[in-house]
Amino acid sequence: RDGAASGVYAHAPELTHYLQSTFVPSVVPQQDEYDAKEQARQYLEKLADQVSPGAKLLPFGSMANGFALKNSDMDLCCFLAKDAPVRSPSELVELLGRLIEQETNFYVKTLPRARIPIIKLTMPPTASVPAGMACDIGFENRLALENTRLLLTYAMVDARLRTLVLFLKVWTKRRKINNPYRGTLSSYGYVLLVIHFLAHVKQPPILPNLQRLPLPESANLDELTYEGHDISFFDDVDALPSVFQTTNGESAGELLIDFFRYFSKEFNYAGLVVSIRSEAGTMQKTTKGWHIDIETDPEGTVRDQHKLCIEDPFQLDYNVARTVTKDGLYTIRGEFMRAFRILTTPSRSPEGIGAVINS
Ligand code: CTP
Ligand code: MG
Repeated sequence: RDGAASGVYAHAPELTHYLQSTFVPSVVPQQDEYDAKEQARQYLEKLADQVSPGAKLLPFGSMANGFALKNSDMDLCCFLAKDAPVRSPSELVELLGRLIEQETNFYVKTLPRARIPIIKLTMPPTASVPAGMACDIGFENRLALENTRLLLTYAMVDARLRTLVLFLKVWTKRRKINNPYRGTLSSYGYVLLVIHFLAHVKQPPILPNLQRLPLPESANLDELTYEGHDISFFDDVDALPSVFQTTNGESAGELLIDFFRYFSKEFNYAGLVVSIRSEAGTMQKTTKGWHIDIETDPEGTVRDQHKLCIEDPFQLDYNVARTVTKDGLYTIRGEFMRAFRILTTPSRSPEGIGAVINS
């Protein structure tokens, strides 16, 4: 099995060293970037409060889940106060969008009629924010906030997850396979693949299944579900060692190479759904009705695709990889194979490591 069985890939130590000492520090945002974004968030929250008194703007996605790269977009979600006048998301998009346009330097684009109405903001580069800033504001998306918290908790459990995810984010962007609008997979989808790999494929597991551990004593039992979705999970990292400790000492480099091996040669794409909340980590496509490749509307337009199936951890009827086309999956698997080949070819080292990312 290409060195996997022996647990040693020849280049793994070198790769691990590169990831930890060079790669990760060079791609993560510096404190001043976090500060500038937090300042922008607070200012936008003031404007949201003018539109609807008591409104909050909460970060989700990469700025809040521990997987941010330098200059990544800021995802914000607006929550109205409980006693605020009821307004539709599209109305809020228009009102807040107009106010932001009047009061800030952001270039504003509103999408009030999208399936999920949002405001898209871009800020040109300035002295304090040399790379500019991009920001999306959505409304009342509680599940996005909760899945962000789930990812953040996993990131706090074992540092190897973050190393793998940061590498995959940079690599999938360079290889152009991180584009749900063009038939490939979102960062969120790739993160779920890595969690599946570390929690369910690796033996002994490196991550627990946080959605299957008995809830900690600190759990808030009033908020276990949201709109019929079970959103509970073990979120008390301090209390975790009493219920889960990994005995798997594989290095980040070894795990990365083995991730590429697993998803290029071993995973059964045709038959299985990746399901991090399940006991086994996968389910048959047939049990979810996802064995039919393409779901279409009555008018015949393509809605969901089931070539690659990744079940959302909370919204179980939602295939996070529904945007991945047949071609897209073929390209993604080809890229996994290419990366595996480069990282396990003796003559290509050490330049091979750079070659995986570049060219
Ligand atoms: N999200 C989701 N369903 C998706 C895609 C995204 O619920 N199909 C939500 C998740 O809460 C996710 C957030 O949107 O954490 C941001 O997703 P994405 O942009 O894919 O991930 P980021 O970590 O923000 O990565 P990037 O830096 O590439 O923007
Ligand atoms: Mg994002």
